[in-house]
Amino acid sequence: MYLLLYLIYFYYGIIMMYMAIILLGLQLYSTLAVNPQTFEFKHHNNKELKNVLVNVHKMCPNITRVYTLSGKSVRNQDLYAIEFAMTPGIHTKMIPEYISIGNMHGNEVIGREILLKLAHYLCEQFLHKNKIIQRLISITRIHLVPSLNPDGWDDASKAGKDKELKGRNNANGFDLNRNFPDLNSIMYKNEKLKHGKNHHLLEEIKCLPSNTQPETFAALNLIVDTQAVLASNIHGGELVVSYPYDQARPDNIGYAESPDDDVFRRLASVYANNHKDMSKPTTTCNKKPKLEKQNGIINGAKWYSIQGGMQDIHYLGSNGFCVTLELSCDKFIKEEDLKYEWNRNKNAMIQFMWQTHLGIKGMIYDKRSKKPVPDAIIQVVNISNKIPKIIDHDITSDCLGDYYRLLVNGEYNVTVYADNFYPCSKIVKVNNNPRNGAKCVDFYLIYEKDK
Ligand SMILES: *[C@@H]1O[C@H](CO)[C@@H](O)[C@H](O)[C@H]1NC(C)=O
Ligand SMILES: *[C@@H]1O[C@H](CO)[C@@H](O)[C@H](O)[C@H]1NC(C)=O
Ligand SMILES: *[C@@H]1O[C@H](CO)[C@@H](O)[C@H](O)[C@H]1NC(C)=O
Ligand SMILES: [Zn+2]
Repeated sequence: MYLLLYLIYFYYGIIMMYMAIILLGLQLYSTLAVNPQTFEFKHHNNKELKNVLVNVHKMCPNITRVYTLSGKSVRNQDLYAIEFAMTPGIHTKMIPEYISIGNMHGNEVIGREILLKLAHYLCEQFLHKNKIIQRLISITRIHLVPSLNPDGWDDASKAGKDKELKGRNNANGFDLNRNFPDLNSIMYKNEKLKHGKNHHLLEEIKCLPSNTQPETFAALNLIVDTQAVLASNIHGGELVVSYPYDQARPDNIGYAESPDDDVFRRLASVYANNHKDMSKPTTTCNKKPKLEKQNGIINGAKWYSIQGGMQDIHYLGSNGFCVTLELSCDKFIKEEDLKYEWNRNKNAMIQFMWQTHLGIKGMIYDKRSKKPVPDAIIQVVNISNKIPKIIDHDITSDCLGDYYRLLVNGEYNVTVYADNFYPCSKIVKVNNNPRNGAKCVDFYLIYEKDK
């Protein structure tokens, strides 16, 4: 009898112990599930998108800032961005900036999810003291905009996979990558006349076209206010990196070469070559007609000419160099492929951001007062060959007198022009090593009346 009771207690004890372990396990599991440190590969809706960014900020408050672009979508949704920098919210001299924008076509979702994962990854690796990521963030200011078209995403996710084109446009039916003002026509005209500006051409148009969409306007403000050096615009539907110009010259269909063709081809190639498959000749999306890419890259206009795209606006309207990343054959890719796609793109994403540190950068000062000179014009002549070749695309110094000029290896004659100062030239040899930052070249300008 006592033995029986004892056995019952004994087994009861063991059962309770197991129950306790199971309960503890469940508890642990549920805390893990809401732990901001874990990232879930899934299609994040617009509310979840914001939550991911807010959680990343909670994990890394000192090096991040979550903000919204200056305007909202047609249906009044916020356009979220997250920034990584040592001093978030502030442009620091000699720290170049990078912008990446995803999901401007609402049904092309890969950029949205990859940028969310990238934000999480940068923060996590910074906390884990990954030296390379810490170094990148310490010398770069990075802006990630996972979705420029949250309304389109809502439409696309409701429509389902069979309606591929649903949600591409914004809620007013406009394709945002055709909605930017046409600066190419101004540039091409100036080229022919051989005078007029070759940069910051937004200043040449009095007002934006009346059909400019709120999302486009918000992106334009970001581009102009940030003065980023490098940018990417992420799409889906092909596996290729396209580079400017996107808009063909009126008398010349096909390849539209920009003055910085060599730089753009390097930028595009860095992405394609660091992607797991993009540059392989065997990697195609089986579309017709077959895309004539070369090692995973293609000139935008050679592929097909578009007017009002975002990459040409960066280059012609600001100091930024932008390429378009086409990262998936399908547009609304399957949820179960998201992790695989992140792994294919992760290294390319990181290596591409390092390209913000190509070429030269520096400060432009008034020699006498030692005050910085904003809005100076930096002109570059390529003297690597016997015949000097002017690169017909100037850049300008930022508000703090700092400038950034992406260049590939070579020898250059760099001249700085500013109102009321004598021009100042320097011969510079570029031998890129992005991890060390761009080569520093400062200029001290002499005031005309001082001479
Ligand atoms: C943020 O900075 C503060 C002050 O320097 C420091 O005490 C804190 O540990 C930092 N937090 C993180 C998450 O790095
Ligand atoms: C300068 O010229 C050299 C030699 O032709 C070339 O390899 C390099 O790409 C040029 N640089 C730029 C920025 O176009
Ligand atoms: C560099 O450019 C300036 C301005 O055009 C010119 O005066 C100077 O002779 C050039 N120097 C060299 C070595 O080409
Ligand atoms: Zn697209």
